[in-house]
Amino acid sequence: MKEAIYPGSFDPVTFGHIDVIRRAAKMFDRLVVSVLDNQAKTPLFSVDERVKMLREVTKDIDNVEIDSFQGLLVDYAKGKNIHIAIRGLRAVTDFEYELQIAQTNKKLSDGNLDTIFLVTSLEYAYLSSSSVKEIAYFGGDITPCVPPEIAEKVHEKFSR
Ligand code: PNS
Repeated sequence: MKEAIYPGSFDPVTFGHIDVIRRAAKMFDRLVVSVLDNQAKTPLFSVDERVKMLREVTKDIDNVEIDSFQGLLVDYAKGKNIHIAIRGLRAVTDFEYELQIAQTNKKLSDGNLDTIFLVTSLEYAYLSSSSVKEIAYFGGDITPCVPPEIAEKVHEKFSR
């Protein structure tokens, strides 16, 4: 069985992430999308909220599972006995950062965790969770960036 993990912050999930999830789900028998529970960051959404939102937007994809993890990705992947991580690449600016993480993970896992990059579809290349939050914070329209149910949740956060 071909399995992969797609790790990320997903704060919140965007059309760019969903595009990567759909494409990766076609390449693997099982795709585990996993939210990093990063104690060092203050996210807009809790891990539980992010997991719920991911479940909602991927409910029609049978071979996708949503999970969360703490600590190192290599330890999490080892625990699940999965040897491939998926990451999306939007632009050259992502590349250096992603390359370093991929190489670090390869080293830390004694060669057991490889990273496969999916080039983000052009229409989503400009998208990021941070820009979604900034646009929403200033009252802009985020409907081109996230599904309606996610847009509603983002607006709810900022209207409090
Ligand atoms: O969506 P993001 O914030 O770009 O995702 C980054 C993520 C979660 C893939 C990365 O930060 C990660 O895997 N963190 C877990 C800690 C870890 O394994 N670090 C070692 C690589 S430097």
